[in-house]
Amino acid sequence: DPTLREVAEPTGRFIGTAINDGLLSNSTYRNIAATEFDSVTAENVMKWDTVEPQRGQFNWSGADRLVQFAQQNDQLVYGHTLVWHSQMPGWLQNGSFSNSEFRTIMTDHVTTQVSRYRGQVQRWDVVNEAFNEDGTFRQSKFYQQLGSSYIADAFRAARAADPNAKLFINDYNTETANAKSDGLYRLVRDLKAQGVPIDGVGFQNHLIVGQVNGSAIQQNLKRFADLGLEVVITELDIRMRTPADSTKLQQQARDYRAVADACLAVSACSGITVWGISDRDSWVPDVFPGEGAACPWDDNYRPKPAYEALRAAFVAA
Ligand code: G3I
Repeated sequence: DPTLREVAEPTGRFIGTAINDGLLSNSTYRNIAATEFDSVTAENVMKWDTVEPQRGQFNWSGADRLVQFAQQNDQLVYGHTLVWHSQMPGWLQNGSFSNSEFRTIMTDHVTTQVSRYRGQVQRWDVVNEAFNEDGTFRQSKFYQQLGSSYIADAFRAARAADPNAKLFINDYNTETANAKSDGLYRLVRDLKAQGVPIDGVGFQNHLIVGQVNGSAIQQNLKRFADLGLEVVITELDIRMRTPADSTKLQQQARDYRAVADACLAVSACSGITVWGISDRDSWVPDVFPGEGAACPWDDNYRPKPAYEALRAAFVAA
């Protein structure tokens, strides 16, 4: 049978996965990651707490490993993530800085990381999860100290550091039209109007089995695409109450298919990244006790109906 990347390639879209750096030494994991996907995202190792755990002390080992893995396997790299309220190093989260010092720290971080991987990371999540559920700006340290101007400044710093990388804003619960995605829509429309260098919007798609509305997702992707932006499904997983059974797995397959079909129906949707390979390694059970089985491969790294559904979506496109 063809792999996901083999069926995705003729559609002109990428199929990616989040890579858990600690699992690259597992040959089963590594083989699936290399053969099934043509794009990789670091699940954790490109986040600020990993790359600069102490101020001015950098640790690029995991990020370098990911980029090297991608080059070995002829894969794109989706950079995740530069400016995010979560997984900030303690010195940054708890430190006391003047507003101007804090702005410089942020833009220096963006410049340093994007420059390091210039030409090697094709897309960056420059800003991640900037919104509350009601569409207002999240009261992150960035927002509290700098107001919404931190967003434009982060994008300008990223563009200057790698003019060829495509720059994204990424969020969750923005997959369909709602208060949060409306807030995001207004922001990116205004950024575009102001000439801020933004190229795309990432939609995480951490979804729930039986609650996926493919046509609503497609329409929402389309409205952002109509602003002249690229759109990407950046972190797809679809969780259920565990244990899984065949009814739930079949519904999950239909839900994966619906998300893939929504992307494939929008020409500006350039790819789909799933947030992990195996249910065994997923973040979901840690954060949602009693839920899981959200990935395309099961606990034993065997492909699930969701995997077959993804493949069928590309074949049909
Ligand atoms: O590395 C430490 C380890 O030393 C320690 O023993 C262990 C004990 O808990 O924690 C380890 O760190 C964990 C880290 O993943 C690496 O495994 C953190 O506790 C854990 O919180 C962290 O979770 C990650 C989460 O982001 C953090 O917010 C998940 O792996 C990762 O899948 C998840 O990904 C996010 C995206 O970046 C943004 N969108 C939502 C998505 C899901 O939450």
